[in-house]
Amino acid sequence: MAQRSQWGTRAGFIMAAVGSAVGLGNIWRFPYVAYENGGGAFFIPYLFALLTAGIPILIMEFTIGHKYRGSAPLSFFRMNGKKAEWIGWWGVFVSFVIATYYSVIIAWAMKYTIYSLNLTWGADPESFLFGSVLNLADNPGDVGGYVPGVLLPLLLVWGVAFIILFAGVKKGIELANRIFIPTLIVVFLIVVIRAVTLDGAMIGLDAFFKPDLSKLANPTVWVAAYGHIFFSLSIAFAIMITYSSYLPKKSDITNNAFITGFANSGFELLAGIGVFAALGFMATQANVPVDEVVSAGVGLAFVVFPAIINEMPGMNGIFGVLFFLSLVLAGITSLVSICETFIAGISDKFNVSRNKAVTVGVGAAAIVSTLFATRGGLYFLDVADYFINQFGVAAIGLVEVILIAWVFRKLGVFESHANKVSDIQLGAWWKICLGVITPLVLGYMMFGLLRTNFMKLHEYESGKFGNYEGYSDTFILFGGWSVVLFAIVMAVLFTIMKWKPNQLETSDYEED
Ligand code: ALA
Repeated sequence: MAQRSQWGTRAGFIMAAVGSAVGLGNIWRFPYVAYENGGGAFFIPYLFALLTAGIPILIMEFTIGHKYRGSAPLSFFRMNGKKAEWIGWWGVFVSFVIATYYSVIIAWAMKYTIYSLNLTWGADPESFLFGSVLNLADNPGDVGGYVPGVLLPLLLVWGVAFIILFAGVKKGIELANRIFIPTLIVVFLIVVIRAVTLDGAMIGLDAFFKPDLSKLANPTVWVAAYGHIFFSLSIAFAIMITYSSYLPKKSDITNNAFITGFANSGFELLAGIGVFAALGFMATQANVPVDEVVSAGVGLAFVVFPAIINEMPGMNGIFGVLFFLSLVLAGITSLVSICETFIAGISDKFNVSRNKAVTVGVGAAAIVSTLFATRGGLYFLDVADYFINQFGVAAIGLVEVILIAWVFRKLGVFESHANKVSDIQLGAWWKICLGVITPLVLGYMMFGLLRTNFMKLHEYESGKFGNYEGYSDTFILFGGWSVVLFAIVMAVLFTIMKWKPNQLETSDYEED
């Protein structure tokens, strides 16, 4: 069997892990989630979720990848046979679903980078987005044919991802991250500095940081913090296990996890500052309070930002180019990591070459992604994103910690494995976080979520999720649950399939 790929250097691995973590989630999702859930007060549940679940799970996943040296399915198989393997595939297929729509958002950002040059969106960015760019169908559920203007940049995104992934772990992923991440930091710093020096920036920052402590009593705020941390840190969907499986044997685990976690949060905070400073400027120009200009996800980046850019004094086009370029750079490095989960999974299980796995994996994801480049794409994207995050990513996080801590009882083994190679030593705190705090808090959150989703579907219609009101129960039921079920069914099917025997013969990993 061919030697397993490895990262070239420690910095290369950290850069790739940070590149995976820092993504669309940090730039457009975090500022809004924080603002919606208590502003400054949100940092309490956010930090709690980061320190008790985010970083401990990141350490656990780095340990799993480093110890078992395999894709997520192979690592779980080595941990406890087929009884565990399915969790790896579940993560892989959740990643597959995410890749299919994540790529589409990057494609929009690419278009907007070009549009910024002459402010193509004109005076009404909202009609421009939904009309000229997306040609949005009238009703959620209508597919309505391809939108060529989205399809072409989407193919370009897949082309770039394919080239990076085809080139391999070291010469492709590591190299791309070494170029993209420093560029992203510089570009994004310019955006933030420009934003905080705009008129009215302080009003925006005040709105962002002003703590609304009353929100802390509301469980949905805690749910939001956990959901966000998981997505943002790329944990519980097979990514970090895959990336750490390429670590050389002598590699620090715990320290690397802390560096990755804090770098990701630092970037997120910076994004919050930049976005809200710009919103403060917009509110000042329009002479309205900040809450009238703020908007979620798609609307924030592709409607509110173009409107802000329209109002900016001097060189506003350049500001637009840099902002959307940040989205593209942050997005591509994350997309590559999301795809690497299924490339590694396919190549391990079926013993095919990396090049074949890249072609099949990226090809399949690219084909499915074109569904989101149709006239009804945005509706599908919105529902798929919500459901796969709650009942894909967060659910895997919960199942993963419960099985590892209580059923397979591996925390002790992992603790000593990580401690052997790491500067920072794990202790009781780590096991309590994973074995007690996270299962309790996440379990409570999942129970509440399931209850809401099964019994009160109509709540979505009051705009409880996404940007778009008026989704029918049927659309949510089919659109949302079908992606969740897809990931679970595929995980079971792939687990049932037989391993190519020579894949399991290697003793390249440390047995428990
Ligand atoms: N962690 C990646 C993000 O935040 C997926 O977008």
